[in-house]
Amino acid sequence: NVKDVEIIGFIDGYKGLMYEKYKKMKPKDFYDILNVGGSILGNSRCPFKRMRIIENGFDKVKAMKNTYKKLELDCLVVLGGNGSIKSANMLSQEGLNVIALPKTIDNDAWGTDYTFGYSSATAIATRYLEIKTTAASHSRVFVIEVMGHKVGHICLSAGIAAGADVILLPEIPYDIKVVAKKVKETLKNEKNYAIIACAEGAISEADALMKRKDYKAKVLARNGRSVAYEVADELSQEIDAEIRVSCIGHAQRGGNPNSYDREISTRFGVEGARLIIKKHYGEYVVLQGN
Ligand code: F6P
Repeated sequence: NVKDVEIIGFIDGYKGLMYEKYKKMKPKDFYDILNVGGSILGNSRCPFKRMRIIENGFDKVKAMKNTYKKLELDCLVVLGGNGSIKSANMLSQEGLNVIALPKTIDNDAWGTDYTFGYSSATAIATRYLEIKTTAASHSRVFVIEVMGHKVGHICLSAGIAAGADVILLPEIPYDIKVVAKKVKETLKNEKNYAIIACAEGAISEADALMKRKDYKAKVLARNGRSVAYEVADELSQEIDAEIRVSCIGHAQRGGNPNSYDREISTRFGVEGARLIIKKHYGEYVVLQGN
């Protein structure tokens, strides 16, 4: 019976669990959230790799376990991307009852074909990539950077959907000469503009060969200028055309979820509830085979 269920929402996710910041959720808290993006509880971006580090004498894992015990929770339900799910797994190994649901625009969580938020973000990215009118008016080449962390799912889908001329993904390091050749052919044979969809994690062949720490130092030295600017700089050495950079950024995570994300997140939620009822703790809701 739903009346027997008590739900506690931790403010800003793991931070709320650490510092005992929570609220008792009422059914009305959930009305009308289906079409709302983001999170009604907030998010604190607590990186998994720092979870076990004691900071200023504060033991985060111990604090989370204490809150769990003090509130006599039956199960902790974690919604989030890779970092959140890794932390959920750690808490499960620490003996707490935990279930996790994959929620990130990046679609990069292990074991699932889908992470909710991805379709909505891809739809926004597609719209931003459709920059044809201004690109054609000024005969320009656009390098448009798309979010997605270290993976290229959003960029690939949105790039295909928007008919981008070139798509640069982290998974396939690029050679700027090949990119330039394609852009030149497009400008010569097809139209007076070209669109390059560039994933934020895109990397050149040369950079992909660098040692991880050297590459990290190189990225830091960019001083916040992202990879799209580097692609534009390199391309300007190869082609004679006006190039502009446009970064979509967090606009992809703004706005309302689309119909697919509303439907699929509901289905994920129902499955999560089933796991709790069956006491299948330590499990993770995934979509496989679609
Ligand atoms: O993981 C989602 C994501 O939007 C990535 O695509 C992006 O790399 C990152 O988060 C941005 O993080 P922040 O919102 O902390 O700037």
